[in-house]
Amino acid sequence: MLLYEQMIITLCNGKGGSGKTTLSVLLGCALVEAGHKVALLDTDPQHTATRWVQEVGGVEIAEPGKEYGALFIDTAPRLESKEVTDAIRRADVVVLVTSPSPADLFTSRDTATLIHHEGAQDRARVLFNQVQPGTILARDLEDMAERIGLPAFKNTLRRRQAYQHAVLLGWKSLGGEAREELFRVALEIVGQQSSKGIK
Ligand SMILES: Nc1ncnc2c1ncn2[C@@H]1O[C@H](COP(=O)(O)OP(=O)(O)OP(=O)(O)O)[C@@H](O)[C@H]1O
Ligand SMILES: [Mg+2]
Repeated sequence: MLLYEQMIITLCNGKGGSGKTTLSVLLGCALVEAGHKVALLDTDPQHTATRWVQEVGGVEIAEPGKEYGALFIDTAPRLESKEVTDAIRRADVVVLVTSPSPADLFTSRDTATLIHHEGAQDRARVLFNQVQPGTILARDLEDMAERIGLPAFKNTLRRRQAYQHAVLLGWKSLGGEAREELFRVALEIVGQQSSKGIK
C-alpha cells in the first residue's frame, strides 16, 4: 500500500494497565518490520514508552514537524486530560485498548463516551488485549464491545509473557506467533483508514 499522508493512530483507555504503552511500541515495531516509517508520540507524563524506546529501539521518537508513515500516540490513563482529547481528535484511527475483563468495562465505556463526544466514533474500534483463549471471558468479546459502545477489531492479542519481556529485550525477542499476532492487528488498524495508504 502507498501512503500519501501520515496516518495517526491513538491508543487510549482511562483504565491504567490495559496495554496502551506496550501496544503503541510493539504495533509500531510490527509496521517498522513491514518496512514502514513509524514514530511514537508519547503524551503520558510518565514517559514509559519513550524510555522503553530509548533503551531498546524499535521505533523512532516523533520529532516535531517530521512526517512519518504512521504516528502512534500513547496516552495517559486520564480521560479528563487535554492531551488525551487532542490525541483522540487528531487521530485517523482511535484504538481503545482493553482487557476482556468485566472489571475494565466501566472505564472502557467512559472512554468510548469521550470518543463519541469528540466525534471520533466512526474512526474508533475496541482492541481486546491480554485475551486468554478458551476462557469464559474470551467467549463474549462481541457482547463486551457492544456494552462498551464501539465495534471491535476482528483480531485480538493474547496474554503473553513475551510482551512483558519485550520491554527489556525488544521486538527481536518475540517469537513467530507473537509477531504474527501483532502484524495482523497492525494491518487491521492501518486498513481502517481506506482513504490513506501507508508509506
Ligand atoms: N498482551 C499482553 N500480555 C501480557 N502482558 C501484557 C500484555 N499487554 C500488556 N501487558 C502488561 O501489562 C502491564 C501494563 O501494560 P502497559 O504499561 O502497556 O499498560 P498502559 O495501558 O500503558 O498502562 P498506563 O495506563 O498505566 O500507562 C505491563 O506489565 C505489560 O507488560
Ligand atoms: Mg502507559
